[in-house]
Amino acid sequence: MSTVESRRRPLVGAGVNRVDGPRKVTGTAPYPMDFSVPGQAYGALVQSTIAAGRIVRMHTEAAERAPGVIGVLTHENAPRVGTGPVTVLGASPPAPLRNDRIVHHGQHIAFVVAETPEQAGAAARLVRADYEATEPLLDLQDPRAEHLVDPWGMDTSRGDTAAAMASAEVTLRATYTTADNTHNPLGLFATLAAWEGDTLTVHDTSQWPSMVRTSLAMAFGIPESSVRVLVPYVGGGFGAGLRAWPHVILTAMAARVLRRPVKLVLTRPQMFTSVGHRPSGVQWLRVGATRDGELLVLNHRSLISLSMEDNDYEPFASATAFAYRCPNVITQDRQARINIAVPTSMRAPAEAQGNFALESALDELAYTLGMDPVELRLRNHTDVDPRNGLPWSGKALLECYEVGARRFGWSRRNPRPRSMRDGNWLVGYGMASALFPYFAQPCAAQATVRGDGSALVRSAATDIGTGTYTVMAQLAAEELGLPLDMVRFDLGDSDMPNSMMAGGSGLTGALGNAVHDACRRLVRSFTELAWASPESPLRGVPPDDVQCTGGTIHPVGRPDLGESYVEILARHELSELTANGKSSPPVPEELGMSLAGAYGAKFVEVRVDADLGLLRVARVVSVIDGGRILNEKTARSQIIGGTVGGIGMTLFEDTVTDPHTGRIANATFGDYLVAVNADVPELDVVFVGEPDRGTATGTKGVGEVGLVGIAPAIANAVYHATGKRIRQLPITLDALL
Ligand code: MOS
Repeated sequence: MSTVESRRRPLVGAGVNRVDGPRKVTGTAPYPMDFSVPGQAYGALVQSTIAAGRIVRMHTEAAERAPGVIGVLTHENAPRVGTGPVTVLGASPPAPLRNDRIVHHGQHIAFVVAETPEQAGAAARLVRADYEATEPLLDLQDPRAEHLVDPWGMDTSRGDTAAAMASAEVTLRATYTTADNTHNPLGLFATLAAWEGDTLTVHDTSQWPSMVRTSLAMAFGIPESSVRVLVPYVGGGFGAGLRAWPHVILTAMAARVLRRPVKLVLTRPQMFTSVGHRPSGVQWLRVGATRDGELLVLNHRSLISLSMEDNDYEPFASATAFAYRCPNVITQDRQARINIAVPTSMRAPAEAQGNFALESALDELAYTLGMDPVELRLRNHTDVDPRNGLPWSGKALLECYEVGARRFGWSRRNPRPRSMRDGNWLVGYGMASALFPYFAQPCAAQATVRGDGSALVRSAATDIGTGTYTVMAQLAAEELGLPLDMVRFDLGDSDMPNSMMAGGSGLTGALGNAVHDACRRLVRSFTELAWASPESPLRGVPPDDVQCTGGTIHPVGRPDLGESYVEILARHELSELTANGKSSPPVPEELGMSLAGAYGAKFVEVRVDADLGLLRVARVVSVIDGGRILNEKTARSQIIGGTVGGIGMTLFEDTVTDPHTGRIANATFGDYLVAVNADVPELDVVFVGEPDRGTATGTKGVGEVGLVGIAPAIANAVYHATGKRIRQLPITLDALL
């Protein structure tokens, strides 16, 4: 490509390499556990060995006498702290060490601080507790379990499901179960807390530094301006970083009480009990249809596991209310309080599980009707939101089916189960639709151009590996008319303008809009400065009629009449110029549209060993309507990552709780299996569709839609290969024998 062409090629959309890539692969990107401050001590957690009951007495004397120990906090001597905010995920986890009550195995019951991490760990093993144990509730279907009932009013009831079911020509009833999964980012979660008087600085593994700041301010009763939370690199999150966890509060509490900076790095087993997990659940589906495949009834109910003392909210069935055109719909989600560690959002929370049930049931219905599964979905496609009749802001799902079926070679499928074979391998083709609803929260950003013509843009966001550093730099560079290497985007500091969480697949769109706004305002400020100067070539040019190219502001189409940022700053004797921007979520009522979110169609080929039941995923084609794609490379990586997560969820991931003790039995990387390279075939990812009409950046969000649909597409392919309908995740070998 010639220089001229490469300069013309738009920055946004291009598959630009990660700007943080070199720092990551050379080991110079500091993750939370890499930070240290002078004089820091080290913390270690002591965890409950019962799942329910109370602590009668703590024995800390041996630990207190152990080498290097500075202090031991228990509920008997810990200061009381306040509870954090209610966020979009529900109430904050309860404050640590506040009473003698035990509600799950692995609950933090003491915090030991010592001069070295080894001393802290050794002393933590010397702490003993006398318990008064009670029988734990560990089965989510235990009738004694209290239910949290629809705290946010997401349950749906539309039409007359009973009457429609009675008149349906074809009906189907099925129960699906999904396991607990644990996020397991590679980076162990770490917190480093340092106080200076009443001012607190914290390094923390978080996807949402502003929320951690609020939580710490509320815990210690200090103003938010006295708390600074830093996380320039996260080390993976998958949702585990969306909370201010009790260990974060504990670390800051210990640092305050002991007047020493304290650092805590969780162990891998502690990652299973301390930073959330995907909750298990049971789903009951009842479907009614006409003989030619028109859906008349979807009745989707779930029971989901929840811990005793928090209100994490994860409505599995809710997306069934708008996935298809169907006049009579019930969705109902109930959460059962049992003695497990706190669950939280994990990689397409709710949609991943709900979509497994719905898309499996539709495959079952297709077989009952003798209809192609793609055809069944085409017949029930809707271009309006069935909840309110408004058109979707953008939905290229029909194109997803068409392109996916073609690339995959769906027409080669003989629909009869066990009909396709390759030697001893039973071959199966399966497909599923996927959606992930639109999500956004308010965001703010600040843009500065400095005397050397370079730009610095910032916001208190995080980059959990999704490409925030890169994509925001691309957006700013394009808006400011600067080459990418003249723009730096900084994040991961709660002192920067507020950002939303890196979650819900929403950050790129919402923050991108705020970055755009900041950059537009900055260009305007420069133009207005120039406008006022008699010597400026821009004098008299209306600020709306300019564009920026190569660091120069000029009338539209006239780069020869421009003036550079550097020249304007110099004339006004300014070292830099700054502007602030913000964004708020679009309002569907004002748009007259329903915000669509992302859609996709997933096509999967599996191979099942006819004798051994060994299941391999052989091919995956993902066709995604992600709206406007801001960076083709990082967006594709998102879908690939989601697909790998989906394969793990479907074939391996299962956090096993001992049904008697409540102890997690496989809390190591040796025992908790995730998908590795050998489990993942070549993944075909295609983006289709148009920029979304309802969002300022045209994006829909392309994180979690990559995972949704993989589980049912695999399960449906397994049915096609073997004739066995597996209604539980993970699909293990024993189920196929
Ligand atoms: Mo994601 S579960 O919204 O980090």
